Amino acid sequence: MSNIEKISAELENFKINAAEDLERFRAQFLNKKSELQTLLGEIKNVPAEERKTFGQKVNLLKQKAQAYFDEQRQRLEETAPVQQSEIDVTRPATAQTLGSRHPISLMMDEVCGIFEKIGFTTVDGPDIEDDWHIFTALNFPEEHPARDMQDTFFIEQKPDIALRTHTSTLQVRTMEKRQPPIRVICPGRVFRNEVITSRAHCIFHQMEGLYIDENVSFADMKQTLLYFAKQLFGEETRIRLRPSFFPFTEPSAEMDVSCNICGGEGCALCKHTGWVEILGCGMVDPNVLENCGIDSKKYSGFAFGLGIERMAMLKYKTNDIRLYFENDARFLQQFTPAGR
Ligand code: PHE
Repeated sequence: MSNIEKISAELENFKINAAEDLERFRAQFLNKKSELQTLLGEIKNVPAEERKTFGQKVNLLKQKAQAYFDEQRQRLEETAPVQQSEIDVTRPATAQTLGSRHPISLMMDEVCGIFEKIGFTTVDGPDIEDDWHIFTALNFPEEHPARDMQDTFFIEQKPDIALRTHTSTLQVRTMEKRQPPIRVICPGRVFRNEVITSRAHCIFHQMEGLYIDENVSFADMKQTLLYFAKQLFGEETRIRLRPSFFPFTEPSAEMDVSCNICGGEGCALCKHTGWVEILGCGMVDPNVLENCGIDSKKYSGFAFGLGIERMAMLKYKTNDIRLYFENDARFLQQFTPAGR
């Protein structure tokens, strides 16, 4: 009984003012191990004649404690100022990190954008092609070494079905479908059975350009490619054309740009020549025009093909093509456009 008096007095004196007091109150009066709760367990041990009064008092005390606790808790919840709440609604949200575009996609878009500005439209076509579109229509002789197992991934033989080795397939597909004037660019993935090194890969990306109309000349090609080089590498860039050979163009050339790392002075990238090769080009061979149903007496045109990885290596100053295929996030994140 004296314990009841003592706890009752403690209860009277306990003032709940703040949220912390609630916890202390719970520990002191409502916990299973608290003195009050222990007394409740004692009821059965009290002599029978006193048990009723004792039980009533303890239960009353317990109800009082619980009621005071509930009432105070509600009061505190209702009056708690916002700043004291555990949730700070003014705190800025954590930014969601977005992935970034792959440098090859960025370069592809940049290169396509440069040609779109002067009226070229973008077309695409299948990665898996037949012999006609990869070789025969493009004037490759029957025994040309490019048809060899060394270079081409064949899927079926006789009739040959293979992974395209260049995007020139899209010259054929475009001319078969349309009559001049034709001004297209054709970006795409190409495949070659090559040993993977820092400079070569068995999968890479090319962009083909094709311009067919009446009276298109080599000078038109040169001017178009000079415009492209300046747009991509800067106004001070110079180009040079060296004679070359492709079965589908005549005459053919390879184009170099002045090295954008040393500015033409000579460095490791340009092997101390001041020039780096960036594309193959030439006037579309009349045989190719005829193979694709275009009158070679009336029309002429030029074509070019460039490697996207090569452009990216020059522009982003990277020295290993494999970086573009490894998908190491530390490498890719560097190409995140500003502001993300
Ligand atoms: N298809 C050639 C290559 O893959 C590039 C090229 C395209 C050359 C168009 C001339 C004209 O090397």
